[in-house]
Amino acid sequence: MKLFLDTATLSEIKEAVSWGIIEGVTTNPSLIKKAVKSKQDEGIKGNMELYIKNILATAGRLCPVSLEVAGLTVDDMVAQGKLLYEKFDSVAGNVVIKIPVCTIDSGGKGEPFDGIRAIWQLSDEKIPVNATLIFTPEQAILAAKAGAEYVSPFAGRIDDRIRKQAGVSFGKSDYFPAEGLRDPASPDTYLTDHGLYSGIDLVERIVAIFEQYEFECEIIASSLRNPIQVREAAEAGAHIATIPFSVLKSMVMHPGSADGIDAFTGDLVDEYLDLFE
Ligand code: E4P
Repeated sequence: MKLFLDTATLSEIKEAVSWGIIEGVTTNPSLIKKAVKSKQDEGIKGNMELYIKNILATAGRLCPVSLEVAGLTVDDMVAQGKLLYEKFDSVAGNVVIKIPVCTIDSGGKGEPFDGIRAIWQLSDEKIPVNATLIFTPEQAILAAKAGAEYVSPFAGRIDDRIRKQAGVSFGKSDYFPAEGLRDPASPDTYLTDHGLYSGIDLVERIVAIFEQYEFECEIIASSLRNPIQVREAAEAGAHIATIPFSVLKSMVMHPGSADGIDAFTGDLVDEYLDLFE
């Protein structure tokens, strides 16, 4: 499984790339907003074009970086996808265009298949597409059929939806069991969102379908909120996990490792240390 960094914050990309384990970066408008705000808080007025170029150059040639379109119609998404690709891919040859699988908003406005049409048109022009905001295996099938190079199932947001439905209060990074949550009103049944028990269930089902039909489309387990969810995405067979910086940092920590460091450091004898003189 490849590890992508889920951020638009340049300092996080720089640091994580220096660890030697990052194979891609995913951004979205909310992550760009967060990065812009933190620059503004430092009193820095940014040049977005330069900032994106810096991200691409820092990630480097072998690390695909997803940049999302802003438009919601097929024409806008295709035009913006081409613009982003033409403007930025020359920096490091690593631009991937992120297209929402369906751009209907919560008020029902929009054309249901504009996302799929945009994925198909851009893919047809050999522009790599990451189909985003995937909440069902059916959406993943459609995106893969349209030629997407990647699909991004939003695991954490499925868990959020199920917890909200149950009236359970939760923090963003709280663990949600992959097997699902029992309905407090009827403990013999599990709560579901569109027939899914959890975000990891969504990832697992897409993996099974893509394997069964040999779809050439990589699955990016997205919207991951804690290290256990990353572990479960790996167990589910996701090709890629895109991970927020804070979650990635916590993945390396364990109290047993810290205790071991204390014990080994305490046991270092001079005879052994002399080797390093
Ligand atoms: C990645 O492609 C997604 O944009 C991201 O993982 C969403 O994460 P969130 O649900 O925590 O905002």
